[in-house]
Amino acid sequence: MKHRRFLVLSGAIGAIALIASLSVAVASSSQKPSQVQKAAAITAPKVPNAAAIKKKYGGQKITFVGDSVGDGHKRDLALAKRFSRDTGIKVSVVPHPAASDQSYSQLVRAFSQKSSSIDVAMIDVVWPGAFAPYLVDLKPKLGKQAKLHVQGIIQNNTIGGRLVAMPWFGDYGILYYRTDLLKKYGYSGPPKTWADLFKMAKKIQDGEQKTNSNFTGFVFQGNSYEGLTCNALEWVASAGGGHFIDNGKATINNSKAATILDAMRNQVGKTTPRGVTSYQEDQTEHTFDSGDAAFARNWPYQYGIGAGATSKVKGKFSVAVLPHGAKGDSVGTVGGWQLAVSKFSKRKAAAIEFVRYMTSPAVEKFDALTNSNVPTIVSVAKDKAVRAKNPYLKPAIASVPRVTRPAKYFKTRYNEASKVIYQGINQILNGTPAKSVLPSMQSKLNQLLKR
Ligand code: GLC
Repeated sequence: MKHRRFLVLSGAIGAIALIASLSVAVASSSQKPSQVQKAAAITAPKVPNAAAIKKKYGGQKITFVGDSVGDGHKRDLALAKRFSRDTGIKVSVVPHPAASDQSYSQLVRAFSQKSSSIDVAMIDVVWPGAFAPYLVDLKPKLGKQAKLHVQGIIQNNTIGGRLVAMPWFGDYGILYYRTDLLKKYGYSGPPKTWADLFKMAKKIQDGEQKTNSNFTGFVFQGNSYEGLTCNALEWVASAGGGHFIDNGKATINNSKAATILDAMRNQVGKTTPRGVTSYQEDQTEHTFDSGDAAFARNWPYQYGIGAGATSKVKGKFSVAVLPHGAKGDSVGTVGGWQLAVSKFSKRKAAAIEFVRYMTSPAVEKFDALTNSNVPTIVSVAKDKAVRAKNPYLKPAIASVPRVTRPAKYFKTRYNEASKVIYQGINQILNGTPAKSVLPSMQSKLNQLLKR
């Protein structure tokens, strides 16, 4: 059953892609001033039915453990403020740790202590199975709204018939590249293979370093944390090396995986900074948006910051699917976040009203326009203004095959398994040949699968 659920998830993301390809409007990466001005004027949408909510729950206080990457916290504050103004429910917004696995540990601690200090929490797409026992079934109150969302994600978030979290925004890995620099160095388009990327990164870096000693070819999430599991899955799967676990068995110890992982290791300190082994999303985004990198791998949220007023690369970059290995296809790791209500909350009804607002079409549209996050509501993903502002939604990118992390195999042990993966890969990036690391990763993963 669980296996099916995750397969459906990849199908669902395919559905977003389908929506993307059905639309005639193909987004352009250049923004007209009028669109930018319009975006600047966008304010947090009003809460539907606010008076009725106020009458029932006005004056109550809830705590929302929310985003901390990019401008996510600013968005959460703006939305919480609007929600409080309209409904009289006070929302205290607490940003979670930036590394997903650390947020996981924070929630594990709170739930195991049956703490009522968290009412609403942001839940990573790989967690619903692990946290289901601690979360409220949202189906009775939000089941109707759930129908608006991509059904594969709803199924991912439905455990034993209970809808334990509402989809909030989606994610998939994409390549950011500097259009001005590609042109300057004689390239007509983004790299197709990882080998092309390394070659282009080297040439651009050699040229740019003459005037900017901080300049680097390629940045990504190489720190020892959940983000590296996502990046490495893309490298390995796009080189035909499998998905860490295939058909219930660890497969990471194979020659195709070793070849691509060693190729990545060989770039560290050459076309990618030595410090990449401690980069997460924010460091990746800052380096690229400061004008110090030719290429970056990140999630769609980086698009909006790069196109924003404070960016040094505004109008000078575009997005594409990630490169692939010599024999393999481009892929993108499935990410994304949900909103859930804790079973230990003393204000469950007010908390559910907050989740209703936060996962409504108006708020998803607001998030897509102001934060370039991937909508999980079908109609919002099709919205013309949303498509125009978020070029990663165009068919050529949005239809890239998705790869999923092996959460379905490990369930409550997923975090432990991912740790084996990201620690091993980080060790490789730090200089140890893949063949000395992959065998022990494989046996540790197989042991976890047996437990
Ligand atoms: C993004 C993804 C999430 C993933 C995380 C890893 O936030 O949405 O699914 O776990 O990155 O850093």
